[in-house]
Amino acid sequence: METSIPASEAPITDHPKMTVIGTGYLGATHAVCMAVLGFDVLGVDVDEKKIALLAAGTVPFFEPGLDEQLRAALASGRLRFTTDFDEAARFGDVHFICVGTPQAEGSHAADMRYVDSAFTEIASRIDRKALLVGKSTVPIGTASRLTELVQSVSPIGSELELAWNPEFLREGFAVKDTMHPDRLVFGVASSWAQRQLEAAFRPILDEDTPSVVTDLATAELVKVAANSFLATKISYINAMAEVCEATGADVNLLATALSYDSRIGGRFLKPGLGFGGGCLPKDIRAFVYRAEELGVGQAVGFLKEVDKINQRRRVRTVDLIRELADGDLAGKKIAALGAAFKPNSDDVRDAPALDVARFLYLEGATVMVYDPEANENAHRAYPDLNYVDSMREALEGADVVALLTEWDEFRIADPAEIGELVAHRRIVDGRHALDADAYRADGWVYRALGRPTDPQTVALHEDARDDAEAPLHR
Ligand code: UGA
Repeated sequence: METSIPASEAPITDHPKMTVIGTGYLGATHAVCMAVLGFDVLGVDVDEKKIALLAAGTVPFFEPGLDEQLRAALASGRLRFTTDFDEAARFGDVHFICVGTPQAEGSHAADMRYVDSAFTEIASRIDRKALLVGKSTVPIGTASRLTELVQSVSPIGSELELAWNPEFLREGFAVKDTMHPDRLVFGVASSWAQRQLEAAFRPILDEDTPSVVTDLATAELVKVAANSFLATKISYINAMAEVCEATGADVNLLATALSYDSRIGGRFLKPGLGFGGGCLPKDIRAFVYRAEELGVGQAVGFLKEVDKINQRRRVRTVDLIRELADGDLAGKKIAALGAAFKPNSDDVRDAPALDVARFLYLEGATVMVYDPEANENAHRAYPDLNYVDSMREALEGADVVALLTEWDEFRIADPAEIGELVAHRRIVDGRHALDADAYRADGWVYRALGRPTDPQTVALHEDARDDAEAPLHR
């Protein structure tokens, strides 16, 4: 049905009521934070268990600080949860769609089933002027395709508008990144949509947060371009680590020296086991896939190399562990410290740590995995590995220790103390997170990818490095 009011002249709702559809990692955080910022929010999901947990004040995953904010939001009366799409359609002026776009089975493409279904479910019930806002990471062109789809199923036709607002939050910092983002990106097709989105983000814009208003395709592209850049930076320094290994150079010192060039910067330049998680790996693959569909595959062909470099880190880490296990992993006991794809998260999707543990197991090692938060998820993904409840249990009698996720608990461990627990003082620092000198001083054989094995060279270099405060951080 066509409307007589051009979309750009329709009034906006100053303090819009919001729904957040999909209460996974992104959606739950967004719903909670928007309620904390003062909006009335309805969280919607098809998963009744998840909705019941959230409504009872429990976050169904590990994210520092989110539990407290959830409870505060519920107590304020501004946040509720439901599985009822009719209620959601009646309630919302602005509907944020935050469902997942995982890698499709047997393909590098993104699986769009959840996105398509969420947009269709809500749009087919909306019978008054409203804005649908996609936040999921999607292939370029999705928003334009969805605009046609939602306008064809909604009773109000083209009165129902669609915008794209990519999300840049990092796991482990989700609350901070949502409430105080680096920037906001508003992909819109009309000035009404822009004004309505600005009203929905007013408290954040009032903090002088930079905002960039774009067309729909650019907004979609910003997200994959950002994640591709970050992945490339990590693989770049890991590629340099490979060169370092062949030359006896030290990739940590190299990264430190590069990081002082403000054009390069030290963030995401930390070498090690590489990137994992539910975003970077699948996003670069889906980007290549989509670019090939669009006939511009060559432009992002380098991302295939970025992916390969990243995968090699896992294999090379296993090589190092095998080397320390006297060349044969069969029957050796390996302490695998960490399973999550990064610290302060219980997420094991495409986790380099778990991949390494699995490879070790496949070569016949007895792998004792300990992660402060991710054991349960890891066990669900790979039930064959041994999971223990403490670092101490993992270390007892170990032939080689492998640090695979740099949790603080592992970083601050005393090499002398933990040396008493293991069978052999041999450690592979997969995350370049430990003090090599301290370990070597306590009689450990310490190895890390891209760092020289000769202790004297290392000591010399580390003295030099101690003189300078490195701006290397993630
Ligand atoms: C990433 C992006 O950083 C977010 O901006 C984005 O919103 C999010 O994906 C998403 O698409 O939803 P996240 O997956 O939470 O966030 O994790 P990161 O902090 O980016 O770390 C990704 C991986 O890179 C981790 O496995 C980490 O260990 C690794 N990494 C990071 C390195 O190996 N070296 C570094 O220097 C930094």
